[in-house]
Amino acid sequence: SSNAMWGGRFAAGPDAIMEAINASIGFDQRLYAQDIRGSRAHAAMLAAQGIITSKDAEAIGEGLLTVLSEIEGGSFAFSTALEDIHMNVEARLKEVIGEPAGRVHTARSRNDQVATDFRLWVRDQADAAIAGLGALVRALLAQAEAGADWVMPGFTHLQTAQPVTWGHHMMAYVEMFARDIGRFTDARARMNECPLGAAALAGTSFPIDRHATAAALGFDRPMANSLDAVSDRDFALEFLAAASICAMHLSRFAEELVIWSSAQFRFVALSDRFSTGSSIMPQKKNPDAAELIRAKIGRIMGANVALMMVMKGLPLAYSKDMQEDKEQVFDAADNLMLALAAMEGMVRDMSANRANLERAAASGFSTATDLADWLVRELGLPFREAHHVTGALVALAEKKGCDLPELTLEDMQSAHEGITQAVYSVLGVHNSVASRQSYGGTAPDQVRAQVARWKEALK
Ligand code: ARG
Repeated sequence: SSNAMWGGRFAAGPDAIMEAINASIGFDQRLYAQDIRGSRAHAAMLAAQGIITSKDAEAIGEGLLTVLSEIEGGSFAFSTALEDIHMNVEARLKEVIGEPAGRVHTARSRNDQVATDFRLWVRDQADAAIAGLGALVRALLAQAEAGADWVMPGFTHLQTAQPVTWGHHMMAYVEMFARDIGRFTDARARMNECPLGAAALAGTSFPIDRHATAAALGFDRPMANSLDAVSDRDFALEFLAAASICAMHLSRFAEELVIWSSAQFRFVALSDRFSTGSSIMPQKKNPDAAELIRAKIGRIMGANVALMMVMKGLPLAYSKDMQEDKEQVFDAADNLMLALAAMEGMVRDMSANRANLERAAASGFSTATDLADWLVRELGLPFREAHHVTGALVALAEKKGCDLPELTLEDMQSAHEGITQAVYSVLGVHNSVASRQSYGGTAPDQVRAQVARWKEALK
């Protein structure tokens, strides 16, 4: 038999394979709440405009709430023959209220309906991402405040570079995740226009009020062009792009946690609650949560690329290709929220090993730059020459198997006769970080100022 919704011109029903490739109900049932919300707003507007009677609009509104509770109660039977969430809901509405159900689709198409539902859904996810990031930033601020003056090695090329503070390292991620919040906020603001009332593609001959439905659904305004309204999925792509960048940040931090929790580093201990064991090696405590977070970028960026490929060659307006937008975004959003929550939990629970951080900070000639700077400041050497003298001292220390502070004054003077006892004061890691007072530098005072600034901003 042919489709009850659109089968008027069809003599035969679809092949089973046609039904299988065409149906989206298996995944777009996640849009049920948005679909019902949109239909209720649309029906109320139709009545207010005198396009349907208030009695019918009331029946539709009430009936949709019944359908909503059936879905939420788990008693709703989703049908593949009815293709998608939009037709599943409408068909059930017909069973519940009868004839008026056929009027809800006046001045509307599934094209503007799905664009509206999906925008509402993605908008909620942008809000969820912003909330999840906010919680993560708070966890990082707590770490930064506790360890504003704990010294650790800063790296470039994963080789010891200069000492930094634990707080400074945590605050670097605060800055990154705060920009992610900014990206989701920007995307949300741009996506917050309503496609409903664009109808199939050209608008409608009915005297609808698109401003009313836009306002009822919490949008800032209706979209200005009906073709654009049903055609673009850039709002979903922007969400995925922001999600991809955020997942990239999460992945880098996760990688650091994997390294830091290893026996070779021992910079941090991850809590039991966010670690797993091995079925064969009894000593193991593995950072699986960090590893999975590190991996999530793969599917999230993959979703971004996949949807971009779906969209890139489509002529205006709607094509069924666009039904492939949802699973990518659903999967990316689910995994981003999970990764954010797991990272927040890990950061809250982890404890930095202050003694190990400091020991590591002092090794690897990490204060060589401080020594060179001292030669410039105290002896008036050109920086290039100071660099050369310091390099010779590093080579000497390496030969003697010691660190820079363990070189004797005689050793020091062998590289440059002007060096005095005073040089030793700059070779300590605490002095090193305390001296980095430039704005945005690693000095504990600077870190504390940044923590205070962010705490204020997040109030
Ligand atoms: N399930 C469809 C989708 O997700 C709804 C829109 C269908 N529109 C159409 N003209 N066939 O894109």
